[in-house]
Amino acid sequence: MNPLNHVAIIMDGNGRWGLKRKNSRNAGHRAGLNTVEKIIKETIKHKVKFLTLYAFSTENWKRPKNEINFLFSLLENFLKDKIEDLNKQKIKLKFIGKKNFSSKLNYLLRVSEKKTYQNKRLQINLALNYGSKAELINAFKELKKNKEDINEKNLNKYLQTYNTPDPDLLIRTGDTKRLSNFLLWQLAYSEIFFEKKLWPDFNEKDYNKIIKKYKNIKRNFGNI
Ligand code: FPP
Repeated sequence: MNPLNHVAIIMDGNGRWGLKRKNSRNAGHRAGLNTVEKIIKETIKHKVKFLTLYAFSTENWKRPKNEINFLFSLLENFLKDKIEDLNKQKIKLKFIGKKNFSSKLNYLLRVSEKKTYQNKRLQINLALNYGSKAELINAFKELKKNKEDINEKNLNKYLQTYNTPDPDLLIRTGDTKRLSNFLLWQLAYSEIFFEKKLWPDFNEKDYNKIIKKYKNIKRNFGNI
């Protein structure tokens, strides 16, 4: 059975779910947050050490202002309400992506990281204003600036996922088969599962089914 250390998830389908059920994309994001909480709990049960969630891409700034503001207020309230609880559960929070939000939000993100820094049960990497191409370009610039050899080990040092093993498993919900500029380097050997259900409908049972399938895959990493 394959070990499972790191699960990465593209949480797609909130908007469609919200429009269909409540005539509002934002309602879908609110429902999506409930799924986030369920999946965190289940991830802990599986003793997985890293969970990386794609919450907001560098391309998501193209969305209407009202939706962007709603997403960030959802995040802000989530952190304010849940940070103590996450800390008690020994969850470490890390934000990957460029922290160039309002000074209030940047502060909240940094405080949340600092508060949970020592925790070891589960590390959640929340990708916010994240884009894999920008991350890679930045890493190459650092290598050049520091006159270092271009090799995997050195490049990894400058990725925002430094100190995190590559994902074993990527799940994308929402019946769409693409990577959307997410962890392009880190996903080189991940097992990928595309799930038809929209993120707010995705539940523990669906997650467990995927994990079970993943555990039984023969992973070769280029070998036979
Ligand atoms: C993609 O669905 C989802 C997002 C861009 C946002 C993800 C946010 C959440 C799951 C809730 C907030 C989470 C936190 C941690 C505060 P989409 O809107 O692109 O869906 P669509 O493809 O149906 O339009």
